[in-house]
Amino acid sequence: MRPNSLSSLSISTRRLTLSAIAAASALLAAPAVWAQSSEVNIICSAQAAWCSMIATTFEKSQGVKVNMTLKGSGEAIAQLMAEKANPKTDVWFGGTGDPHLQAAEQNLSLEYKSPTLPKLHEWAQKQAEQSGYKTIGIYSGPLGFGYNTELLAKKKLSIPKTWNDLLKPEFKGEIQSANPASSGTAYTMIATLVQLMGEEKAFEYLKKLHTNIGAYTRSGTGPIKAVARGETTVSISFVHDGPGEKAQGFPIETITPSDGTGAEIGSMSIVKGARNLAPAKAFYEWALTPSAQALGAATLQFQLPSHKETKVDPRVPDFKKIKLINYDYAKYGQTAERKRLIQRWEREVNSLPK
Ligand code: F6P
Repeated sequence: MRPNSLSSLSISTRRLTLSAIAAASALLAAPAVWAQSSEVNIICSAQAAWCSMIATTFEKSQGVKVNMTLKGSGEAIAQLMAEKANPKTDVWFGGTGDPHLQAAEQNLSLEYKSPTLPKLHEWAQKQAEQSGYKTIGIYSGPLGFGYNTELLAKKKLSIPKTWNDLLKPEFKGEIQSANPASSGTAYTMIATLVQLMGEEKAFEYLKKLHTNIGAYTRSGTGPIKAVARGETTVSISFVHDGPGEKAQGFPIETITPSDGTGAEIGSMSIVKGARNLAPAKAFYEWALTPSAQALGAATLQFQLPSHKETKVDPRVPDFKKIKLINYDYAKYGQTAERKRLIQRWEREVNSLPK
């Protein structure tokens, strides 16, 4: 689960790897470009260790105080909507791209065309273009399954290789997914299934899957952490979240379904009406640099970074080996569509007995 304030990140910070500390030191050595005393309020929808590292590194290198809150993608957009008349947030960093597009459509985010845009991968530029330059891609990662190798062997279960494999009766109670109202990961799952199977079949599938789900978590990374710790056998997760758990010694592997899957475009937006606009832009530009983006892998987060020059860790999933659908980000990032699908899931799936 995501802790929700920076103070609760201290434990994760202490656990940072040597490479993380080395990467941060390199950034700290860079001359401060934002010398005057100021502050910036950031909602971070990535994992705690990465959020903590970017807050500390930006704060120390640029002389800007960072007030950071951690929230899942669905919770983050809900907060920005609630704050619309009187924004308290300046930047929203990370989280799945669909709710960032929704924020753009609702005029919650500011149009800003970064000079770094041409240096980003095409998918990150496209995310910016289709939002009217109100958001930008900072990383990407594919959806798939995590599984606990020891539990799978102990329970004599075979590795799920397709979406339909998750419906097998032997997986009853063995699978965790997140709740799409709070989690962008879970919304990506619904949107992926709708695009893969057609909406009616996708909802039939989700109803059957429901009987095998042991728990729906609030945060998108909850299920894969539960898999790592042997609390559940299988998760529906972004597969880039697997290697970080494995690196901590947990018996976990990931797989992407052979029948096709979707990917997120993790995004970043500046809030419209941000009180600290200049430091917000300074953070935004800094977060797009290859050295800042490398702090992801340094804190064991293995999404594909959006800047073409960011070093790609070998543990980042190889997109060329994954059967990806042509995910329609513009359509599934629309407020009406997102709301409709989540409400349908609540009404027709989550309300069912298990
Ligand atoms: O931080 C890990 C991660 O998987 C990101 O790649 C993704 O953007 C985010 O979690 C989504 O979190 P949630 O599902 O809680 O919105």
